[in-house]
Amino acid sequence: MLLPRLQQIVGAAHVLTASDATAPYLTDWRRRFTGMAQAVVLPAATSEVAAVVQLCAEHGTPVVPQGGNTGMVGGATPDPSGQAIVLSLRRMDRVREVDAGNQTITVEAGCVLRSVQDAARDAGLLFPLSLAAEGSATIGGNLSTNAGGTQVLRYGNSRDLTLGLELVLASGEIWNGLRGLRKDNTGYDLRNLFIGAEGTLGVITAACLKTYPLPRAQVTALFALDSVRAALDLLSLAQSSAGATLTAFEFFSDTCLRLVTRHFPDRRSPFSESHAQYVLMQLSDHEDEQHATGLLQAIAERALERQLIADAAIAQSAAQGHALWALRELISEAQARAGKNIKHDISVPISSIARFIDETDEQLARLFAGIEMVTFGHLGDGNLHYNVNAPPQLSEQQFLSMQPAVYQCVHDQVVRFAGSISAEHGIGQLKREENARYKSAVELGLMRAIKRTLDPLNIMNPGKVI
Ligand code: FAD
Ligand code: MLT
Ligand code: ZN
Repeated sequence: MLLPRLQQIVGAAHVLTASDATAPYLTDWRRRFTGMAQAVVLPAATSEVAAVVQLCAEHGTPVVPQGGNTGMVGGATPDPSGQAIVLSLRRMDRVREVDAGNQTITVEAGCVLRSVQDAARDAGLLFPLSLAAEGSATIGGNLSTNAGGTQVLRYGNSRDLTLGLELVLASGEIWNGLRGLRKDNTGYDLRNLFIGAEGTLGVITAACLKTYPLPRAQVTALFALDSVRAALDLLSLAQSSAGATLTAFEFFSDTCLRLVTRHFPDRRSPFSESHAQYVLMQLSDHEDEQHATGLLQAIAERALERQLIADAAIAQSAAQGHALWALRELISEAQARAGKNIKHDISVPISSIARFIDETDEQLARLFAGIEMVTFGHLGDGNLHYNVNAPPQLSEQQFLSMQPAVYQCVHDQVVRFAGSISAEHGIGQLKREENARYKSAVELGLMRAIKRTLDPLNIMNPGKVI
């Protein structure tokens, strides 16, 4: 019998079966997927995770690892069969070590991202991974989805920020690979197999992460522009002027801004008129506030001279900076409040972004009358959140039934522009069929061979990714 044995391992209080207790774990953040589970199990230590997984392997019980449940592709939601257990890592939230000399921080998988940023800052270090869900997303989920966020432009994504992993394999064995080495060439890159695997190869229980020196000053500005092309020209101006000091370059359309100010009335645009596009730019400087502000002002002046921008609002305080960031970070939440949407998390070569948007907007408008495009994203990474809001005349049901056709149109365009159908959110269950449509037989074969080898019983998050 599985349940009594699970209770023996983690304690009866940490094996949830009552529907009101398990409900928050069984529906994803976008409310697109709801599953069932025998139980939600909350281990407190790696040894308990290992014992739980080993027990599930003996029973052939699927294990769905879960962190903050903020994933966008249904990767942490079990299927409706009720066979699986959800393994929540939330209780494993200790910061195990901060090594300022090695510029590393070692944390457990259930640590919420913001708590890791805070622990690093308390030690005078920067852990740069940053995304709008950082108040609930966990390190385990970040690594498992190879999360990107707003600082990838300067520091890379989760994979780039990870030096070592501790994890539990599908057999229940523990792999302690928590080395904090920047160079370690001793065979296959095992660590990076599990980063981005979305819980389908093993359970991440801890990670050794890179940190950086804290910048002495961070300055933020919001620029108003008339076209995507101008935003791309502003990006190259900022990169050539600021170099590594440029740490964020987020782009969003006026539709996005209006969604945020409509659903969050306390938030408002710093500009008296509306403009077609906006860019939120952040510089992180190791000199001082004056140098950083001077650099940002020089970029704004050069951009005005070249008529790239129509207006600029440079934050004069940290509070003003946070207010500008909120206009960008609340877009997802605002779009969710506006109703169901069809999301794309795509990447194309930066040089193709303007053409991709023009051509694909035009195709979608022709095929799906009345839709509203909600386009924003991490422009410096070539990563667009190219989302579609429902036409007013359609019911949610009718709109969501359009998803396969909308996906086909957008993803065919992405492939035509040599892009990717998932830049940072992963595949989960949402894009499994789409991924199979575009991945070559060789790539799918390689991924299946790895899955069969590492999870021969197919108990690790089955039905996700491949
Ligand atoms: P969960 O949703 O709990 O799980 C995600 C996946 O990881 C699942 O497949 C799950 O099985 C697996 N998993 C979780 N923990 C473990 C573990 N310990 N071991 C093995 N597998 C595990 N994502 C971005 O990349 N960039 C963004 O800018 C961004 N912005 C967002 C903004 C909002 C408002 C929201 C709601 C989400 C955003 N996301 C973004 C998506 C989401 O926050 C990320 O995918 C995040 O990394 C998920 O972390 P989580 O702990 O919530 O994972
Ligand atoms: C973001 O950049 O805000 C996210 O990836 C979330 C989204 O696509 O909604
Ligand atoms: Zn994003």
